[in-house]
Amino acid sequence: MIKVITYGTYDMLHYGHIRLLERAKKLGDYLIVGVTSSDYDKYRGKINVEQPLLERINAVRDTGIADEIIVEEYEGQKIDDIISYGVDIFAIGSDWKGKFDYLNEYCKVVYLDRTEGISSSEIRTKENKIRIGIAGDAEQVEFMKYCTECGYVNGAEVAGIYSEKKVNPIVANVETTFFDDYDALLDTCDAVYLAPHPFKRYEMVRRALLKGKHVLCKSPIALDGEQCRELFELADEKELILMEAIKTAYSTAYNRLRLLVKSGKIGKVMSINATCTSLAEGKESGDFRHHWNAIDSWGTIAMLPVFQMLGTEYKDVRYICSRDKEHPEIDAFLEMNFIYPSATANIKLGNRVKAEGDLIVSGTKGYIYVPAPWWKTDYFEVRYEDPSQNARYFYQLDGEGIRFELVQFVRSVREGRPLSDANLDRKTTECISETISNYYKGNHVIQLDW
Ligand code: CTP
Repeated sequence: MIKVITYGTYDMLHYGHIRLLERAKKLGDYLIVGVTSSDYDKYRGKINVEQPLLERINAVRDTGIADEIIVEEYEGQKIDDIISYGVDIFAIGSDWKGKFDYLNEYCKVVYLDRTEGISSSEIRTKENKIRIGIAGDAEQVEFMKYCTECGYVNGAEVAGIYSEKKVNPIVANVETTFFDDYDALLDTCDAVYLAPHPFKRYEMVRRALLKGKHVLCKSPIALDGEQCRELFELADEKELILMEAIKTAYSTAYNRLRLLVKSGKIGKVMSINATCTSLAEGKESGDFRHHWNAIDSWGTIAMLPVFQMLGTEYKDVRYICSRDKEHPEIDAFLEMNFIYPSATANIKLGNRVKAEGDLIVSGTKGYIYVPAPWWKTDYFEVRYEDPSQNARYFYQLDGEGIRFELVQFVRSVREGRPLSDANLDRKTTECISETISNYYKGNHVIQLDW
């Protein structure tokens, strides 16, 4: 019996896939089809896959062509499979020509002509092209990154950029339309990514929602819990997606870490320490009105693990801040201490102070250590008293989490429901805004001399 094996994602199964499977089957007597797992796809940078693994497997099974279906979970697995299943022929589409010649050592490699004019990417792109306008403060490095990252997301297209500060298209290195007027941008798009100064966000989000546009807004979306709730209500009323952008919430490593904590891997969480600092932000500009407080630049990212792992019902919070003498409106360093009924959290934020940007989640059985910069991590360790029990985890991170955040946004818009809740729910979003607004109101603030 001649055994043939082939691999693929088989997302939104199409005619090209079926033709390939048919021809692969004809090469022998028995066809094994390897369907890539969602994690492996993410690892190899295929982040736009629409269907979950089981649906893709079922679609392949329903063709009736495969004799056996297996899941491809790791790099190098093809060699293992060929040996363990006793495979004679490895077949794959000609788009991979040459890439699998190394398998000739184990079996015969056949490249089959790819069917022209159809692919999963094309189907996903054609389905719903969502035109995303980008608006806000171009001084923010991330602002331009969103523009670039949109290019990696199937079904997303940059409609244009609006920034109060002129963006130099050459420096920005993106080919798109630059608008002088926010409303003009809104009129040309289906959705917006907003990253203006925190004080301007509420108004800009509101205007976009009133114009019927879906919104992805840098966190915090408003500087007041009440305003935040109001915006969500407006979005619901208009059946629009309003999503808070915190890229860390979309990083695979961070999410797996949360799941491990939830499943009791380190016992009961007693304390969380998160540090985020940078010296560069806004330092060169002479106009201090545009400077961002430490809480604006870093607050939401650092609060994320605290609220997601300890909950939003803290008993007390203390803000210990140090302000630059020359510019007392700017906090240079801020430490926040949260007291929970049976746990504590400490976060350190700095715009004029540098510290190790790591994250430590301490529990009754062990702790999790995420090295700096923890907010864009692809790696963490679970550590115990007995070091032989320690475990290391690594997950690919593409586009610092922005790419997957955009994928979730586009999907939510397409499906008309917020799929991002598993990453970031409204309670967390509202608590972040509430905690920042209390700081600005001066509640529980202790000020140090600079
Ligand atoms: N294939 C093909 N003809 C097409 C599309 C895919 O022969 N028009 C083959 C691929 O070469 C591969 C298999 O089908 O051997 C599975 O491919 P997969 O990557 O799942 O499909 P694509 O449509 O290429 O997906 P994407 O656009 O997401 O890359």
